[in-house]
Amino acid sequence: MSTAPTPPDNPLRDPRDRRLPRIAGPAGLVIFGVTGDLAKRKLLPAIYDLANRGLLPPSFALTGFARRDWSTEDFAKIVHDAVREHARTEFSERTWEQLASGFRFVQGEFDDDAAFDTLAETVAALDAERGTGGNHAFYLSVPPRSFPLVLNQLKRSGLSEPTTDAWRRVIIEKPFGHNLESARELDDVVSEVFPEDSVFRIDHYLGKETVQNILAMRFANQLFEPVWNNHYVDHVQITMAEDIGIGSRAGYYDGIGAARDVIQNHLLQLLALTAMEEPFSFDAGSLRREKEKVLSAVRLGDDLATSTARGQYAAGWQGGEHVRGYHEEDGISPDSVTETYAAMRLEVDSRRWAGVPFYLRAGKRLGRRVTEIAVVFKRAPHLPFDLGSSGELGQNAIVFRVQPDEGVTIRFGAKVPGTAMEVRDVSMDFGYGNAFTENSPEAYERLILDVLLGDPPLFPHQREVELSWQILDPITEFWESHGRPEAYRPGSWGTAGSDEMLARDGRRWRMP
Ligand code: BG6
Repeated sequence: MSTAPTPPDNPLRDPRDRRLPRIAGPAGLVIFGVTGDLAKRKLLPAIYDLANRGLLPPSFALTGFARRDWSTEDFAKIVHDAVREHARTEFSERTWEQLASGFRFVQGEFDDDAAFDTLAETVAALDAERGTGGNHAFYLSVPPRSFPLVLNQLKRSGLSEPTTDAWRRVIIEKPFGHNLESARELDDVVSEVFPEDSVFRIDHYLGKETVQNILAMRFANQLFEPVWNNHYVDHVQITMAEDIGIGSRAGYYDGIGAARDVIQNHLLQLLALTAMEEPFSFDAGSLRREKEKVLSAVRLGDDLATSTARGQYAAGWQGGEHVRGYHEEDGISPDSVTETYAAMRLEVDSRRWAGVPFYLRAGKRLGRRVTEIAVVFKRAPHLPFDLGSSGELGQNAIVFRVQPDEGVTIRFGAKVPGTAMEVRDVSMDFGYGNAFTENSPEAYERLILDVLLGDPPLFPHQREVELSWQILDPITEFWESHGRPEAYRPGSWGTAGSDEMLARDGRRWRMP
C-alpha cells in the first residue's frame, strides 16, 4: 500500500499514536450533495474524526456545493451540527477551528456553468491560500441521474484535469446502476472524464474493520484455512438485518429494493471475501483479481422460484411500537412490489466450494440490527458417545460478527460438567471491545482517508460491479415476471418462503 510522506509539522497529530501512521498529504475535498442525509450522518462527521485523529494535514480544505443560498458561515454551521450530533471522537475546539478555516461553500445548480466556474476559482484559490497543492477529490453524494451532469461540468470547467504533480479523483456512491446495462452506461460516463485509477467507488462495507478482519483471520492464521473448503464446510450464511424501515428514503428505495440496495454490493462483497483464494499480496490488483474469480464462479439455483425468496414488511408491533407496513410508508404506492427482504441460495463453482451453498439474506424491519457471516461446518463423521448424550450438539460454526458487537464467535461442543459424558454447544468469543479496548473507526473515515492517499484496495473495481449485476439480474428479472413479495411481520426474521428455501435443503437459518 502506498503511504504519503508524514508532514513534519502537523500540530493535530499525537506523536505517540503509532496505530495508523498513514496521513493524507495536502488535498481538498469537494462534496456534491452536502445537504443530504449521507453527508450529515456519515461524511462530515468522518472528516471531523479524521482531523481529530491527526490524519488530515493542516492544509486540508472542504468545499460544499449545493443549491441553497448559503454563506460559508451557514455551511460551517451545518457541518458543526452534523459533527456535534454524529462524530465518533470528542469535540475539540482546536481541531474544529483548524478544520473550519478550510471550509468554502459554492452555491449553484448542477446545470449552472457559472457555478462550476466559481467552484474552479475556489479550488484554485485554495491551492494558493491554503496549500492544497492542486490535489482535489470530488465526492458525488448525489442521485445517479445527476452523475452525467456533474461529471460533464467537472470536465468542462477543467476541474477533472490533473496537473503534472497533482491529482484529481472522483468518489462515487452506489447505486452503480440498477442492472448490468445501466452500470455500464454509468461507467461510460465516468470513464469519459476520469481514468479508472482516479475513480473510487464506495462500498462502505469494505471500510468496516470487521470486514477487513475476514482477510486477517483467513490469511494471517494457520488455524482456519485447512478447513475452509467443501471437505469441512457444510454451508455459509450471510445475514444483513436491519430493524429500521425505509424511513424517509422512499424516493431512493422504491423500485430498488433489498437485493439491489445491499445484496448486489455489500453481501456479494462479503461472499467474495469469505470464499476467495489467498491473494498474492494485499495490493488492489491482487485482491480484486481473487474477488473477481469468486464472483465469476457464482452460480444461481436452477429454479429461481425455490432458490430465492423475497418479502415486504407488513404493519405491526416492533419493540413495543406500532410501525407502518411498507405500503403505508410515505411516498410508497399501495401496489408497489419492491422487496424489503431478499434471500437467495448461491453456489460457487470451484474445487474449493463445489456443493457448498451460500445463503444470503437481507432485510428491513427484522428482529434486530445485525450483520454476520456464519461458516457452518459438517458434523463429525462419527460420535463415540452414548445415544442421547450428544443430542444438544449442533454443527460447529465460525461466525464473523460484522456489527454490532463486533468480533468473531467459534461454536463447538464441550463436555457438560458431571459424571456423564454429555456434550453440548458452547461459544468462544473474540470481541474488538475487549481485545483492543478502543472503538473501531467508522468505515467512512477509513475510506475517505484512502481516497486522499490514493490507496485503492478497499474500493470495488468496475469489473466487480458488473459481475455482481450479472449474478443479480436474472433474479430481479425473474421476480419482475413472477408473483409478488410475501408479507412478513415486523420484528420477525423474514418470510416463510425464505425459511422453506433452507428447509428444502434440510437446514435452517441461524438466529443471529
Ligand atoms: C446502505 C443501504 O448501503 O447500507 C441502506 O443503502 C442501509 O439501505 C445501510 O440502511 C446500512 O449500513 P450499515 O453500515 O448501517 O449496515
